[in-house]
Amino acid sequence: MYSTIITSLENGTLLITINRPDKMNALNKDVIQDLGKAMDEVYNNEDIKSAIITGAGEKAFVAGADISEFLALGAEGGAALATVGRNLVFDKIAYCPKPVIAAVNGFSLGGGCELAMACHFRVASVNAKFGQPEVNLGLIPGYGGTQRLTRLIGHGKAMELLMTADMIGAEEAKTLGLVNHVVAADELLNKAKEILQKIHTKAPIAIANIIACVNECSDGNHHSFDNEIVRFGECFETEDMKEGTKAFLEKRKPVFKGN
Ligand code: COA
Repeated sequence: MYSTIITSLENGTLLITINRPDKMNALNKDVIQDLGKAMDEVYNNEDIKSAIITGAGEKAFVAGADISEFLALGAEGGAALATVGRNLVFDKIAYCPKPVIAAVNGFSLGGGCELAMACHFRVASVNAKFGQPEVNLGLIPGYGGTQRLTRLIGHGKAMELLMTADMIGAEEAKTLGLVNHVVAADELLNKAKEILQKIHTKAPIAIANIIACVNECSDGNHHSFDNEIVRFGECFETEDMKEGTKAFLEKRKPVFKGN
């Protein structure tokens, strides 16, 4: 049924594992399609009460959108990529009436950090690393990262992380409010499942309403998500984006010229 993810249902929780470990579980078009379908399953299957999203292997949760798919895109293509991801995956997770949590097992970068932030909350292993390194590619986040990171950790720290592309470890992420719990790698899924088992004992309609109300509280200005997509697309028209993307694929440092 899926080519890039693995799903399994246990005790009412659908475990969704992104399975491209040789590419750090980067989100290519196929992963986005598969995650979208898995989220439809979460919405529509009455046996599913909650979901966990995690990454295969020991190194990465998700190291971002698949950079190799960026090179051919201009402003419209860039914005379309972000819009498709938002409609198929990110909004479905954020507004899902059933709890969806991220079990972050390694690098959670760019679109990976955005995927974790779209989940209702996050549990991390001690080796998890978070960051929004898009600026290294001459880009900005396009899956809601400028919005959700700012909400979760505040204006000043979000500005710094987005502009420096610095990575932070799990403990700092917890101090900042980006993750709720940090546990040993082999305890990660158990911790996530344990929290969800507790939530399963509560009234599902009340849970759905909590998710809706908390989202309404923090969403504020919906246009800011649309504007992020427009600005993300605009970056695709720049020479700096082409240089940043090529430099990553050629495994060298980019030289940006401001055009
Ligand atoms: N898109 C496409 N491919 C990616 C990727 C991404 N976001 N992240 C990693 N990969 C690929 C690498 O190109 C490499 O492929 P190869 O073996 O065919 O050369 C493979 O995954 C392993 O990654 P590598 O960089 O060799 O591993 P590392 O341990 O040296 O570094 C990271 C790990 C996560 C620090 C590094 O891969 C990285 O910086 N990734 C990109 C992060 C990023 O900018 N994300 C934002 C995208 S918008």
